[in-house]
Amino acid sequence: MHGKTVLVTGGTAGIGKETARGLARLGANVILVGRNPDRARSAADELSREATGQVMALPTDLSDLAGLRRLAEQVAERYDRLDVLVNNAGGMNVERRLTRDGVEATFAVNVLAPYALTCLLLPLLRTAGRARAVNLTGGLPDGTIDPDNLQGEKVFLGWTFTQYNHTKTALMAMSHRFASRLEGEGVTVNVAYPGHAYTPGNQAIPMRAFPYLYRPVVPVIRLLGPLLLSDVAKAARSSVYLASSPEAEEVTGAYFDAKTRRAPWPSGALDEWGQEAVWSLCERLSGLRPE
Ligand SMILES: NC(=O)c1ccc[n+]([C@@H]2O[C@H](COP(=O)([O-])OP(=O)(O)OC[C@H]3O[C@@H](n4cnc5c(N)ncnc54)[C@H](OP(=O)(O)O)[C@@H]3O)[C@@H](O)[C@H]2O)c1
Repeated sequence: MHGKTVLVTGGTAGIGKETARGLARLGANVILVGRNPDRARSAADELSREATGQVMALPTDLSDLAGLRRLAEQVAERYDRLDVLVNNAGGMNVERRLTRDGVEATFAVNVLAPYALTCLLLPLLRTAGRARAVNLTGGLPDGTIDPDNLQGEKVFLGWTFTQYNHTKTALMAMSHRFASRLEGEGVTVNVAYPGHAYTPGNQAIPMRAFPYLYRPVVPVIRLLGPLLLSDVAKAARSSVYLASSPEAEEVTGAYFDAKTRRAPWPSGALDEWGQEAVWSLCERLSGLRPE
């Protein structure tokens, strides 16, 4: 990865930070994106000590479309090409909340941001010649896509992770479509599943996000978290693999499990109608197309 430049969203904590660390150790220049400027700066300092390339942080709120545009401009000011984009940041909200752009917040970070950022950085990715986008899924993305409820307009179930799962299925549908759209253009798009890891995001899930039945055991699960869940370095393996391995260079439109194995796509993510609904919503909300 020497001489290559990668951008990792959510690269300032959890799985993203370990992904960034893995790529920095391989010699890449790394751009970390997170919301909190202090955390971003300290993550960049920490990873710089293990890197041979440059590590820098560009603090950005990914749920804000103006912020995404600013981020893409900042990257273009510093680099003339981008080799890898890892759309790692993701989150879940227990209550329905709209962003400044009026987009449901879980959808904004988990689906719209990866779509918009890939579109905005496409000129730099194309310039790289052989570039890769890696999108992180999670939860149980095996449901069907409800085109009328992508932003939880009809029913919003933050608890039981329903909206989180729905947005991850939507992310996979969008990624699959993106891979086809970029076929033959030297930019691959794949999806990585990290498995369950002990991360700041997991530890911060509020009690009211869990189904009632599980709540009595949540404190025990939290206590045993480090033993029950995999460590972040393991969870970063598939992202690092898809971002850097020579075998994956030509692979596109694929889904990889937590052990870096190619896995079948959930059928909901391949449904043409669902893909079209997610794609056109992303186009409409962002005003962007991969042209
Ligand atoms: N952990 C798991 O067990 C698990 C399982 C399956 C899938 N996943 C997926 O793996 C990915 C990483 O998960 P994780 O558990 O490592 O996450 P995490 O611990 O919550 O870390 C989140 C990272 O994303 C950044 N971030 C979150 N929202 C942001 C926003 N609006 N704008 C900019 N940055 C933002 C955070 O920055 P700040 O700290 O500055 O907010 C932080 O760097 C996610 O897509 C998640 O859905 C995780």
